[in-house]
Amino acid sequence: MTAKRKRVAILISGRGSNMRSLVEAARAPDFPAEIALVISNIADAQGLDFARTQGVATAVVDHKIFSNREKFERAIQETLLAQEIDLICLAGFMRLLTPWFVGQWRDRMLNIHPALLPSYRGLHTHERALADGVKIHGATVHFVAPEMDAGPIVAQAAVPVLQDDTPDALAARVLAQEHRIYPLALKLVAGGAARVEGVRVLIDGAAPAPDALLWPAV
Ligand code: GAR
Repeated sequence: MTAKRKRVAILISGRGSNMRSLVEAARAPDFPAEIALVISNIADAQGLDFARTQGVATAVVDHKIFSNREKFERAIQETLLAQEIDLICLAGFMRLLTPWFVGQWRDRMLNIHPALLPSYRGLHTHERALADGVKIHGATVHFVAPEMDAGPIVAQAAVPVLQDDTPDALAARVLAQEHRIYPLALKLVAGGAARVEGVRVLIDGAAPAPDALLWPAV
């Protein structure tokens, strides 16, 4: 008997290209998760249109109508519980989360960040990487801890920084890798191959990719 697919909610604030990569990956019959819900804090987030065309349930929880962060999060939590969600994927969700909400979803909430964490937490990662002259940049999928852009790392992918890069060119190169590693990370977590042990994520059968730019390569 195959295990029940995990019910995943994706939280977005904008374009939703990472959400799209997750929805597309989850179409595979052997993918261990189904995208059951997309929540946006922005009513006209571009990503919502794609989710709707795919028949994925959507909800808007507008942070501006709540008097504080925790009331906003409690409304999100109600929506998640009503849909019997098992796992959350943050995908360009641009609201800081309180320790309360993070605690509710400990080891069950992933985030994607456009940098090789723990370098370049926060915003404008590509501009900052270019300003520092780094030669390698990338993307990270991690479990969410209370501190911003922190928590046990599931997967990372690196890209070269080219001499004539602009922030947009570098962002596009990183984004292509984001679209690779987020479905991979969700598959590992939803399928039970990845587990948190202290500050690390241990992955069954993980091996380095031959090009050494992607981890893991299972
Ligand atoms: C992505 O590059 C994601 O890594 C980043 O926002 C973008 C959303 O794009 N997230 C963060 O910066 C979180 N700290 P998308 O809406 O097309 O997925």
